[in-house]
Amino acid sequence: MLTFVDTPARTASPSTLDTLVLLHAFPLNAHMWDEQRGFADRGWHVIAPHFSGFGGSDLASDTPSMDDYADAVIELLRDLRIERAVLGGLSMGGYASLTIMRRAPELVRGLILADTKSPADSLEAREQRHKLLTLVREEGAEAVAGTMLPNLLGKTTREHRSSVVEYVHGMIRETPPETIASAIYALLSRVDAADVLPQIAVPTLIIVGDEDTITPPSMSQSLEQAITNAELVTIEAAGHLSNLEQPQRFNEALAAFLDHRV
Ligand code: MLT
Repeated sequence: MLTFVDTPARTASPSTLDTLVLLHAFPLNAHMWDEQRGFADRGWHVIAPHFSGFGGSDLASDTPSMDDYADAVIELLRDLRIERAVLGGLSMGGYASLTIMRRAPELVRGLILADTKSPADSLEAREQRHKLLTLVREEGAEAVAGTMLPNLLGKTTREHRSSVVEYVHGMIRETPPETIASAIYALLSRVDAADVLPQIAVPTLIIVGDEDTITPPSMSQSLEQAITNAELVTIEAAGHLSNLEQPQRFNEALAAFLDHRV
């Protein structure tokens, strides 16, 4: 079973329907959602799984697929007897969320897609993934952090929020190189999810940082156009990791969605 950061609802009679499952980005871990664990005070059971090998968990496979990542989350929900949850994912977590919408949509009653996109990797992106694979094998996680941090974090965060830069740097540095390599396989082998989008019927919140250069706002606009019941919120002064870079603004958008749309 996947290990997860568990924050049970802190209200008198929580319902199993009020479960919020949050899937993390690459190459971070479930603690990237720590600023969202406070939703437990509003009656939500917040579950943030670590994908295989992340956050100190066991690595299940050296070459997992995005389907494997999705199936592990589906299995976790079934093991925990959660019938329907609000599911959210940021970037790689969004790819896994879209894969869950393909494989087990009945488990989801609301969807959050943050700083993510539906297309598979282009040829050029796959070449970049192979370079990153070589880098992590030869030089380790620290070198990956050095390459990725300037893209993961927005200009505002990099210039004004050194504690966030250090926090993200630490999370990447602590990730075993073989875990990073395995996730690169899952990323580069994932299939295009465009066909899933018109089938999504549940309320959907799309969030993007206005300084996101990895999955820029235009990609979120495409998601909004393709999903029937979707609403797009752009977070000012945030890059790719919008929930970490501007937690207050992110949480306001999330609270409005959870209170009024699901
Ligand atoms: C992520 O944040 O999960 C990654 O940037 C996703 C990707 O590289 O496609």
